[in-house]
Amino acid sequence: MFSEKNETEERQNGLTGRNIVFFESTDSTNVQAKRLAEEGAAHGTLVVADAQTAGRGRKGRQWQSPPGKNLYFSLLLREGIRPEKAPMLTLVMGISVQEAILKHCGVLTPIKWPNDIVLEDKKLAGILTELHFGENKTPYVIIGTGINIKPQAFMPELADKAIYLESKTAKEVSAQALLQTIMECFGANYALFLKTMDLSLLCEAYNDVLINRGKEVQVLDPAGAYSGMAEGINKEGELLVRLSDGSLQRVYAGEVSVRGIFGYV
Ligand code: BTN
Repeated sequence: MFSEKNETEERQNGLTGRNIVFFESTDSTNVQAKRLAEEGAAHGTLVVADAQTAGRGRKGRQWQSPPGKNLYFSLLLREGIRPEKAPMLTLVMGISVQEAILKHCGVLTPIKWPNDIVLEDKKLAGILTELHFGENKTPYVIIGTGINIKPQAFMPELADKAIYLESKTAKEVSAQALLQTIMECFGANYALFLKTMDLSLLCEAYNDVLINRGKEVQVLDPAGAYSGMAEGINKEGELLVRLSDGSLQRVYAGEVSVRGIFGYV
């Protein structure tokens, strides 16, 4: 997938001009990024792997991570981190991945709030944002992203829910070039986020590609599931859901998921 196959490599990163660390195989780029963060790695460090042996998804799920097929990367952010704002960064990465895929491949991939990139109503990519506290309890965030790119067999439980990017592109996709575009888009979008420390400058673009918008959704809240009409996100990144009694529920992106009434979207 990547032309450089050295075990660990450092190059310039468009976001901050700092490190890119590449692994042919690692347990999880999120875990590696945390290890590096604990050793003092700088803001903007990007950990990329060709394969993961223990790729992790949201809610303790496994993330299928075979070699030579997909993109797996984790970005370490230290600057401008406020713990309560960390879930918003998932949305910042989501819009960046969506924009980059459109730019690079000409394929429109809507977003399923808060962290899935969707193609033909199936999951193309996922984002796992983790907040940690380092020395002196200073917060830092790791945003991990996995994008299915090449033809592959998905594990049985994903077979009818997952999709890969090349199923919709005329040409092969260069994971490396796509990652470069994602980081450029993220750099620009993160700068917009930092201006207001919320999604004020990004929520219109996000809502334009939000697959849930105008649809009936089921909110899988640990305190009890309920359904309503999704109207879009607000500047805090919360999903606004209109309930049948006319009230507006603000759904926070923590541990809550949404589903379409009839399935995944
Ligand atoms: C999800 O949708 O459940 C989130 C999936 C996140 C997967 C990526 S792959 C790179 C990074 N390393 C991991 O172990 N997980 C994230």
